[in-house]
Amino acid sequence: MSISPWPALLSEALSLNTDHRDRYVQLASLSDSGEATCRTLVMRRWLPDETMLVATTDLRSHKVRGLRHHPQGEICWWLPTRNEQFRFRGTVILQGAEPGSSLREEIWDDLAPAGKLNFTGPAPGTALTTAPVPRLATPPATPPDNFVLLMMQPLRVDYLRLDNMPHQRWLYEYHRGDGSHRSWHARAIAP
Ligand SMILES: Cc1cc2nc3c(=O)[nH]c(=O)nc-3n(C[C@H](O)[C@H](O)[C@H](O)COP(=O)(O)O)c2cc1C
Repeated sequence: MSISPWPALLSEALSLNTDHRDRYVQLASLSDSGEATCRTLVMRRWLPDETMLVATTDLRSHKVRGLRHHPQGEICWWLPTRNEQFRFRGTVILQGAEPGSSLREEIWDDLAPAGKLNFTGPAPGTALTTAPVPRLATPPATPPDNFVLLMMQPLRVDYLRLDNMPHQRWLYEYHRGDGSHRSWHARAIAP
């Protein structure tokens, strides 16, 4: 991919916003029946060299069912220090255990025990009975099969910045073209 300024903008914004709440994003996608649906996720990694956003989720969740039918999504990320909003659009990739990839294990190791235990309970969205749900006391040492990476390499980034007047908005779009003609196009647009 040819160079575009948005990865540097995001890296800079993250260096200026370091509270754990600054890693909460919203992911919009479609349900398996085509309805709009949105939820909060923790953005666990930003890999600037690969322009890849990496979150985690439960393979058994409704969002995964929807993403299997409609893999497109939009991630909205507000970062308060400079009042910036990034809207990332692209294909959502789900990645479970894969030979040669250590990122999933690395992110699992970083999770707090309570976060790990979330993956050992009943499937998200299933009805709870009155009987107490048995839970493991200690989390598994290695990621269970339902722990998956939810990743996006954006092909369109809508960037809005409201910390000074006039407000600024830029649209970055990746044009596939053929062969060597792939490139990012940037244009300023009205906020
Ligand atoms: C602050 C916060 C952080 C969350 N982080 C995650 C997360 O990283 N991954 C995840 O799958 N769900 C996370 N959730 C729960 C989701 O918002 C959502 O309720 C859950 O994933 C079920 O969504 P679904 O029915 O669309 O699959 C978080 C919720 C909140 C409020």
